[in-house]
Amino acid sequence: MDGGAGEAWRWGAGARPGAGRGMCSATAAERAAGAALTSEELMRMERERSAHNYHPIPVVFSKGEGSHILDPEGNKYIDFLSAYSAVNQGHCHPKVLRALKEQAERLTLSSRAFYNDKFPIFAEYLTSMFGYEMMLPMNTGAEGVETAIKLVRKWGYEKKKIPKNEALIVSCCGCFHGRTLGVISMSCDNDATRGFGPLVPGHLKVDFGDTDGLEKIFKDHGERICGFLFEPIQGEAGVIIPPDGYLKAVRDLCSRHNILMIADEIQTGIARTGKMLACDWENIRPDVVILGKALGAGVVPVSAVLADKDIMLCIKPGEHGSTFGGNPLASAVAVASLKVVTDEGLVERAAKLGQEFRDQLQKVQQRFPQIIREVRGRGLLNAVDLSNEALSPASAYDICIKLKERGVLAKPTHDTIIRLAPPLSIRYVLCCFLYGCVSIIFLDNGQRPASAS
Ligand SMILES: Cc1ncc(COP(=O)(O)O)c(C=O)c1O
Repeated sequence: MDGGAGEAWRWGAGARPGAGRGMCSATAAERAAGAALTSEELMRMERERSAHNYHPIPVVFSKGEGSHILDPEGNKYIDFLSAYSAVNQGHCHPKVLRALKEQAERLTLSSRAFYNDKFPIFAEYLTSMFGYEMMLPMNTGAEGVETAIKLVRKWGYEKKKIPKNEALIVSCCGCFHGRTLGVISMSCDNDATRGFGPLVPGHLKVDFGDTDGLEKIFKDHGERICGFLFEPIQGEAGVIIPPDGYLKAVRDLCSRHNILMIADEIQTGIARTGKMLACDWENIRPDVVILGKALGAGVVPVSAVLADKDIMLCIKPGEHGSTFGGNPLASAVAVASLKVVTDEGLVERAAKLGQEFRDQLQKVQQRFPQIIREVRGRGLLNAVDLSNEALSPASAYDICIKLKERGVLAKPTHDTIIRLAPPLSIRYVLCCFLYGCVSIIFLDNGQRPASAS
């Protein structure tokens, strides 16, 4: 294992420590050439060589197929995170890979300094599928959100005639929209913002689900507000579903105050919740929709902002862009990814399996009511909310470790919530694992829940 304090580096010809870029240890080069490493070695390398901006569950993905993952030792797991809902179509979907390979052999990047023969097809496919006049392509989700914010501000100045530099966007506490500076400036999460100031101004916050609060903000500041940005179901916050009628009420308030309704469907969109968009649960049409993640089926990053012409054409040539946004490789992959969703009936599948899954989870909850506070979700975006007091000193992370030992990969969100979101291609869902893990945690702790016979 290299990289340890005591191990000597071997430098390439002419290279020396501190000589800057281009250096690579022979060992690292050998490894890059494919020498087999164990999970332990790989995790240690990552810890030593990569920033510690994540706290992963200790398992190494080496191969993925559908909802299954193999680690380097050949251990098999079921994926219950789907790369935060980016692989709704399942890992390495053959039709998406075929599109990727065919396109990779023809053309990968034109930049939008020129046209290419795949992006227009993607643009037409996406806009027809979701019923918007236009789209703007980007790569990551956070870029999509940044794009939407810029677009909506531009609309605010050009169409709503908000005085220069005074536009405001309202967003919800607890919503997650990504990690760029502009995006974290809207966050109420101290971990996301602490130490990164100064933040970008121009934001107001309201509680998720609070229509009275939203109405008050709109009444007080409506002249300067250009948009309301929200997740229709809060994913990172722990699969928080708003009260019935919330989306309709938001639509109504936005229309009344001439404020654009901006739905971040990066995690909830593309069939995850048992509808194509989570906003479809209340049949409402936002003015702006942001998609990402499963738009590229986990194969390449693709994001897009959807809006009609009167909004989208507020951005003129030279005012916004991305070298890779709309590249032909991503465009071909995105079209293939969307076709898989339709051809394989993933919307209906997520709805049906999700209901079955929640029914099962609810049985586990009835068995351990003082440990599992709530089971909630829509489609295959679900969460179990655990009681801190009952679980302590264990945490949701410990349950996820136990799940992993039983071949199920899930990730906690916050200390007490486990999000369960398998690829929508999964054949069936069973939650006896969770049952077993809750029992094991309790036996480890020497406790026994009163209801457990
Ligand atoms: C709702 C939502 N918006 C935006 C993002 C950011 O996407 P990305 O990580 O691709 O930048 C995420 C990522 O988890 C998300 O869940």
